[in-house]
Amino acid sequence: MKVVHTIEDLRDQLRGQLRAAFVPTMGNLHAAHLSLMRLAHQHGDPVVASIFVNRLQFGPNEDFDRYPRTLAEDIEKLERERDVYVLFAPDEREMYPEPQNFRIRPGDALGNILEGEFRPDFFMGVSTVVLKLFSCVQPRVAVFGKKDYQQLMVVRAMCRQFQLPVEILAHETVRDPDGLALSSRNRFLSAAERAEAPNLYGQLQQVRDAVRAGRDDWAGVEAQAMQTLRNRGWDPDYVSVRRQRDLQPPTLQEIHEREPLVVLTAARLGSTRLIDNLEF
Ligand code: PAF
Repeated sequence: MKVVHTIEDLRDQLRGQLRAAFVPTMGNLHAAHLSLMRLAHQHGDPVVASIFVNRLQFGPNEDFDRYPRTLAEDIEKLERERDVYVLFAPDEREMYPEPQNFRIRPGDALGNILEGEFRPDFFMGVSTVVLKLFSCVQPRVAVFGKKDYQQLMVVRAMCRQFQLPVEILAHETVRDPDGLALSSRNRFLSAAERAEAPNLYGQLQQVRDAVRAGRDDWAGVEAQAMQTLRNRGWDPDYVSVRRQRDLQPPTLQEIHEREPLVVLTAARLGSTRLIDNLEF
């Protein structure tokens, strides 16, 4: 695997490559990232990964400074897996050589709901850096995990609306055996919090089961899940049942007609904010 830190070296490595498959990450790689690399390997050649902790997508009181940076270990993991041909690991000056005044953001209907409501500049930061990374790598396909469900939809909408010739592939959420979705932030959980953490997914399953069983007052079901989380020591931002296709709330008729739905959540346990979702 070649490790490059500049856009010029990246472009040298990728010259003439028209079928690149790209996996953008912020590093601190775990098994879920490695599954994204494997999916990329099945859909393109060469596979390009990036590691860049993107300041632009963190709010002023968020965990940019303590976000785990483990480049040496990440390189070892990728070397062992052998799926990746080039790792692009730029520093901040390479990605943002001047203040990034030219930014893009999704429209309100997708960008200001759920995560966008609680992290106002998050999707601006994600869309802007993903567009910049796509411009550096020029991939034919790119792989994103479904754990960041709304991010996946934002990136898809951006590609569609800017007519970018990049196919976006989604990888299922990878979970520990007890149900906790893998995330770089799980390492911040204390032993007691780690034992509690799978209950976030447990609440999503409860909401799904209640809606499937015919409870159509889903606002009540959501409120009940939020209260249960609070009783267990969580500080939830939202638990919300939405349509898969546009993340808007479903109508009663759509629920009865079995519209594909997803229940999404974000909640803080101690100082760690976790997100998760479940399609049904
Ligand atoms: O999901 C992530 O790790 C990041 O949001 C991404 C897509 C790499 C952009 O910084």
